[in-house]
Amino acid sequence: MAVSKVNVAVVGLSHFGGMFVPIYRNHPGVGEIVVSDLDADLAASGIALGASRALPDLGAVLADDSIDVVHLCTPPFMHGEMAIQVLEAGKHCASAVPAAVDMEHLFEIVRLQESTGKNYMMMETAVYYSPTLEVRDLIAQGAFGELTFGRGAHFQDMTDAPAYWQGFPPHHYITHAIGPLLTLLDTRATSVRCLGSGRLPESEQTRWGNPFPIETAIFELEGSDVAIEVSRSMSRMPRLFHEGFSLYGEKLGYEWTSWGEAPVRYPWAPGVLITHAESDRRPAPDTRHLLPPEIRGDVPTDKLPYWGAPLHLVHELISSIAEGRRSFIDAVRAADMTGAGIAAHASAMAGGAVVEIPDFRAAVNPG
Ligand SMILES: NC(=O)c1ccc[n+]([C@@H]2O[C@H](COP(=O)([O-])OP(=O)(O)OC[C@H]3O[C@@H](n4cnc5c(N)ncnc54)[C@H](O)[C@@H]3O)[C@@H](O)[C@H]2O)c1
Repeated sequence: MAVSKVNVAVVGLSHFGGMFVPIYRNHPGVGEIVVSDLDADLAASGIALGASRALPDLGAVLADDSIDVVHLCTPPFMHGEMAIQVLEAGKHCASAVPAAVDMEHLFEIVRLQESTGKNYMMMETAVYYSPTLEVRDLIAQGAFGELTFGRGAHFQDMTDAPAYWQGFPPHHYITHAIGPLLTLLDTRATSVRCLGSGRLPESEQTRWGNPFPIETAIFELEGSDVAIEVSRSMSRMPRLFHEGFSLYGEKLGYEWTSWGEAPVRYPWAPGVLITHAESDRRPAPDTRHLLPPEIRGDVPTDKLPYWGAPLHLVHELISSIAEGRRSFIDAVRAADMTGAGIAAHASAMAGGAVVEIPDFRAAVNPG
C-alpha cells in the first residue's frame, strides 16, 4: 500500500528553522518542502537546503492549498497567534517553543486542536534529548524506585540575541527546563511559587515590563508527591550554557547539569556514602535506532546538534499525522509546559505568591 505523503512548509529560516529542511527532505512521509521568510535571502537559503519553493510570508503559506503542515520557526512571541492562524486555515501545525506567551492563546490552540481535528505539536527539543530518552527507559524499568525530586535548568546568556530577547521574562521560555520533567513524570504542574533573581536596568525592562534576568520556581504536580525546582537565566549569570534536568528516586539519581559533560548516574545502596567512585558518568545511549533508516545518518546522537532531537521531533510529527493520532507534545502537553512558565513569571511579579496553573483540558472538557 502506498504511503500518503504530506507537504510541509518551514516558516522562519534565520538560526533555527533551516536545520529542519534537510530532515524533512529525507523523511519518507514528506512530499514537497516549501520555505518562507520575510527576508528573501534567508528564504533562498532554504532552497539550497532542499526546499522546492520559497514563499514571501506566512500569509502566502496559508493561502497555498497544497501545503498540509506548517512548521513555525518564527520569534517566540509570534507563535501563539500564528499557530491559531495555521489551525484555522485547516493545516497541521508544528511550532518552535514556547507555544505562546499568553494563557488565552494556549486555551485557543487546545480548542482548535479539538475542533479542527488537525495535529499540533510543540517542537520541544529537550523532550527528545538522548539523556531524556535514557531516563524514560530507566523509569520504565523501575531503576529509580519511587521518584522523589526533580530539578530542571536552562542557563543561556541571550544578551547578543535579536533585540526582542532583551528583558524577555525568563520563565516565558521555560519549556526546555520543565518539558523533560513533566513528560518523564507524566503529569502537569498545578501551582507554582517563583522568585525573580537579580535586577535588570530600567532600560532593559521597557519592552516586556520584566525586571528579572533570572527566575527560579518550585512547582506542585498533579497526582504526584514529587516537587520540582526549575530555574532559567537569560543574562547576568556567567556559566556554561546548559539545558537539562536531574531526577532522583529512592534507588538512583540521574544528573545532567552541563551540556559540556556527560550525565552522571548515582546508584543508592544502604550504608554506602556516594562518592565519585560509585558514580557512573558516560554519554546517554545513541537513540537513532528509534528512527527510520532514511533520516538516521551516520553520526551518533551524542555528537549531533541537540542530541538528535530534531530528527525525533520530525519523525513524531509526521508519524502522528500519518497514523491519525495526537502528537506526543500535542496542544495540551504544550500548554501544560508553556503555561507553567507563564504562571511562574506571574508569581515572580507578585513577590513569590502561590499561583494556580490552569488545567487546559477544561478548554475542551469543561465538566
Ligand atoms: N532548542 C530549541 O528548541 C530552539 C533553539 C533555538 C531557537 N528556538 C526557537 O526557534 C524560533 C526561531 O529562532 P531563531 O533564533 O531562528 O529566530 P529569529 O528571530 O532569528 O528568526 C525568526 C525568523 O522568522 C521570520 N519571520 C517572522 N515573521 C514571519 C512571517 N510572517 N512569515 C515568514 N517569516 C517570518 C523572520 O524574518 C526571521 O528570519 C524561536 O522561537 C526560538 O525561540 C528553539
